[in-house]
Amino acid sequence: MRGLIKKYRFTCWPLLLLLAAGCTKIGGPRTVILAHNMTTAHPVHRGIEVFAEEVAALSDGALRVRIYPNAQLGSEREVLELLQIGSVAMTKVSAASMANFAPVYQVLGIPYLFRDTDHLFEVLEGPIGEELLDAGSDYWLKGLAFYDAGNRSFYTKERPVRTPADLEGMKIRVMSHQPSIDMVNALGGSATPLSFGELYTALQQGVVDGAENNPPSFVTSRHFEVCKYYTLDEHSCMPDVLLIGTKFWATLSGDEQDILREAARRSAAAERVFWAETVAANMAALAAAGVEIIEPDKAAFAAAAAPVLESFRRDPLLAPLITRIENSAD
Ligand code: GCU
Repeated sequence: MRGLIKKYRFTCWPLLLLLAAGCTKIGGPRTVILAHNMTTAHPVHRGIEVFAEEVAALSDGALRVRIYPNAQLGSEREVLELLQIGSVAMTKVSAASMANFAPVYQVLGIPYLFRDTDHLFEVLEGPIGEELLDAGSDYWLKGLAFYDAGNRSFYTKERPVRTPADLEGMKIRVMSHQPSIDMVNALGGSATPLSFGELYTALQQGVVDGAENNPPSFVTSRHFEVCKYYTLDEHSCMPDVLLIGTKFWATLSGDEQDILREAARRSAAAERVFWAETVAANMAALAAAGVEIIEPDKAAFAAAAAPVLESFRRDPLLAPLITRIENSAD
């Protein structure tokens, strides 16, 4: 199956080029291509469906969003590059993937910087959120909204992680993202960056001993079939970002841009509701599938990961932002 997807991915390049600028308009509605790497059962996909419905409704059918889920058009990094050159109009990626293009996004993945997702969204809905969404434009990637992606926690295959010391010597898959790499290494594990699409097989074959993610991604990826321990250490609450390539954005009228902004705002609100509903169901599904849910002493993980936050305090780009985030109201 994965082979087929890969093959399809490469055979669809000519199609992509034909769809130049991520859109088509030959008399009919204008099509906006939006690619992402999650399954259609994922709450973020459901949020994106709301985006598509809102765009159609607000534009009276003049704009149509066509969604390509399941990494059909490539990994997060590959699709971001397609946005930059204008071959795909829009995507949704983790803030971690954006950090490889706009480094300021790293701040969203620093372990235990945010108290919880309420603190995160208080920050994202204020000036810092606006600054981050705009920061991508310098790299041809304009942010339209943040989606909730919950809390990330460790899951492992052979051995449970009850304390940070249990990670010693374990190979843990992380996204290609410096704060995540530093965190796993600080905890004594061995960070192994891989794309999400490669992870199921890597876990099965023992290339890695575990990974870390939020409940909907753990469940919809079916990684729980291989990993029977889920340790809720909640080391980060990194959001997802809905993005549009600035090349495509520049081809839209002011009214069309307003429609996309408003649809993004509405879809982000809907996604947060889907997220909350899904997480409860996910945890029940994991327990039913025989996954041991471990509630560790989070403070012990935060203490062991603290050097990561301290090292980013010395980063001139991130230091002022870290202070603003820490000082933001409760
Ligand atoms: C989350 C995030 C995805 C990302 C994934 C990962 O699920 O929402 O955008 O790809 O983590 O770990 O790669």
